[in-house]
Amino acid sequence: MRVAIGADHGGFELKVSIAEYLRKAGHTPVDVGTHNSDPVDYPDLAREVAKAVLAGEAERGIMICGSGVGASIASNKFPGIRAATCHDTYSAHQSREHNDANVLCMGARVIGPALAEDIVKTWMSSEFSGEPRHRKRLDKIVAIEKEFSSGNPPPKP
Ligand code: RB5
Repeated sequence: MRVAIGADHGGFELKVSIAEYLRKAGHTPVDVGTHNSDPVDYPDLAREVAKAVLAGEAERGIMICGSGVGASIASNKFPGIRAATCHDTYSAHQSREHNDANVLCMGARVIGPALAEDIVKTWMSSEFSGEPRHRKRLDKIVAIEKEFSSGNPPPKP
């Protein structure tokens, strides 16, 4: 599977090891940067991962920052992206099975490389269940994206 992978300076080292892990596991990482430890802004890298996924250049994305928090906040601003911060394998497979997450976020200052690999392995091998109750909830998220899109006036309280 083609996987867009990005990180800020906080996640740079983990990105390198996860990209290598993906390669060994038979996937094709599409590395969108950053390419060294110089400080950068995580929204810029989240944008590159999101663009690759939304354009179909990658089927899924992985975005790493220090905490995994900024990565998901930024990634979820792109309509069509469903980003989930997962620091355990239960969240990793749930985020695929129930939420059809297409971007996995992790915090390199929260978990180590061995756990991160397990999480990626679980996330990559899990699929959306497709159950109607989950589809209905995802449809509601799409409706929210449309209702609050920049072309629309702010909703009345
Ligand atoms: C960078 O210092 C840090 O703020 C960033 O990697 C991330 O943790 C933000 O959520």
